[in-house]
Order: sequence, then structure tokens, then C-alpha cells
Amino acid sequence: MTHKIALVTGGSRGLGKNTALRLAGKGVDVIITYHSQREEADKVVAEIEATGAKAAALQLDVSQSKTFVEFAANVKAILQSKWQRDSFDYLVNNAGTGINTPFLETSEEEFDLMVNIHLKGVYFLTQKLAGLIANGGSIVNISSGLTRFSFPGYSAYASMKGAIEVLSKYLAKELGARGINVNTVAPGAIETDFGGGAVRDNKELNDHIASLTALGRVGVPDDIGGVIASILSDDNRWVNGQRIEASGGMMI
Ligand SMILES: NC(=O)c1ccc[n+]([C@@H]2O[C@H](COP(=O)([O-])OP(=O)(O)OC[C@H]3O[C@@H](n4cnc5c(N)ncnc54)[C@H](OP(=O)(O)O)[C@@H]3O)[C@@H](O)[C@H]2O)c1
Repeated sequence: MTHKIALVTGGSRGLGKNTALRLAGKGVDVIITYHSQREEADKVVAEIEATGAKAAALQLDVSQSKTFVEFAANVKAILQSKWQRDSFDYLVNNAGTGINTPFLETSEEEFDLMVNIHLKGVYFLTQKLAGLIANGGSIVNISSGLTRFSFPGYSAYASMKGAIEVLSKYLAKELGARGINVNTVAPGAIETDFGGGAVRDNKELNDHIASLTALGRVGVPDDIGGVIASILSDDNRWVNGQRIEASGGMMI
């Protein structure tokens, strides 16, 4: 049986790492990308390979759209050398960092960084990789609960995530002719390094979010990777152009 191949951006830590491992657990081979933490990425590759799936790690800065043509060439080369294929099946646009700055204090530099990472990055990376995604493949873009509810300080970050939700619908429409479905997964607050690890390490914030969540606790990476792996599976092929929130019922 030939394994499906997923490309997960930001797979060295947090939600991307968990997604890569959950995909591997379902027999999917995975190419992860990392930005700065090569050692962490290598560890994830080793963990995936220990499950029997194949894996590789490539460097990528999603804020540098001018590098995406070269990145796509690197993906093509590794597909050829490691899998003897010229396409992959699943793209997960996950990589990124956030900022927490009040609206009145947000600088143009901070705003531009959020545009470049979360909107321009996802838009043009997907465009440059589209020719390498197999017909009948799937794309999941990672948004946030912060597009449905608002927390002060996240106006720039959440605006980009809102844009990604709109983009996902357009991608679903335009790539649908090739049998590619495109969905958004929107996690609630999850204990990762994101935002300096505040949700995980600041007990007051953690307790506050737990009190706002129907299931009574803050999310952990293992609450999310399985959702993404499931959306990418054949069982969910007919789900298309949707926003799926995984927040434990935060602020419902
Ligand atoms: N955690 C949450 O509460 C939460 C909630 C909703 C949505 N999200 C979204 O989920 C996604 C993953 O977040 P996370 O919580 O897993 O964060 P994380 O633990 O901080 O991990 C971030 C990942 O993205 C990579 N990355 C960071 N900046 C990058 C850049 N400029 N170019 C390429 N890769 C970059 C990192 O690579 P290195 O390891 O090499 O630095 C790492 O693999 C993000 O899109 C985030 O907005 C998170």
C-alpha cells in the first residue's frame, strides 16, 4: 500500500508536531517544516520514523514569500529522492507566531509581520505548492477561536486568521475542480510555546480560560492533532470549505 504524504508547516513544536505525529499514527508519511529549531524538527522526524512512517524536515520561514519558489523546488526534490513521487497529498498551513498588543499600540511593523506570516505566507505558499498537491488531496489551514470571540490584544493576529477563513472558502471553490477539499481548523487556547507559553505557564490565565470552556480545562496539543488528521482522512472527504472549531466549547 502506498502511504499518503502530508506537508505540515511548523511541525517542530506545538500543534504542528502533534499533527505530524497523529498523521504518522494513521500511516501517513510526513514532511515537516521548521523555522529556527532544527534539532526539535530532527527529533520529530525520528519519532515519526519510529512509528514506521517516513519523514523529512525542511527549513522554511513563512514570512519570506520570495523564498517559496525555492522551497517548492526543495519539496519536489525530496519527494523524488525519498518517495519517488512528484506530488504530496495533504497540506497543513500551521506555522506561525502571534502578537498580543492592544489595538491602539499596535505598530505597522507588528501588523506587517502578522500579514506576512499568517496571510501572505499562507496565500503564496499554497499558490507555489498547489502544483505539487495531488488531485484528490486536501488542505487544512489553521485559524483560531479568536475569529469568533475576541480577547483584547489580538486584533492584528485575529484579523489575519479571519482572512484565512475567507481564503479557505475561495481555495475550496477554485481547487475543487481537482478534487482537492480545503477546510479551516480553529483551535481554542492551547498549552504550547505560542505567545511565550502564556496559556500554559500563567496560572491565572490558564484558570480563566478553563472557566470559560465548557469542558472545564485549557486545550493541549493532543486535543488538536487528531482533529486535523481526521479532517484529512477519507472519512471527511465530503467536508469542504468549512471552519471546524476545536476549543472544548470555549465561550459558547
Ligand atoms: N496555541 C494556541 O493557543 C493556538 C490557538 C489557536 C491557533 N493557534 C495557531 O496554531 C499554529 C501553531 O501554533 P502553536 O501553538 O503550535 O505554536 P508554537 O508551539 O509556538 O509552534 C510554532 C511553530 O511554527 C514555527 N514557526 C514560527 N514562526 C515561523 C515562521 N516565521 N516561519 C516558519 N515557521 C515558523 C515554529 O518553528 P521553530 O520551532 O523552528 O521555531 C514552530 O514549529 C499557529 O498558526 C497559531 O496561530 C495556536
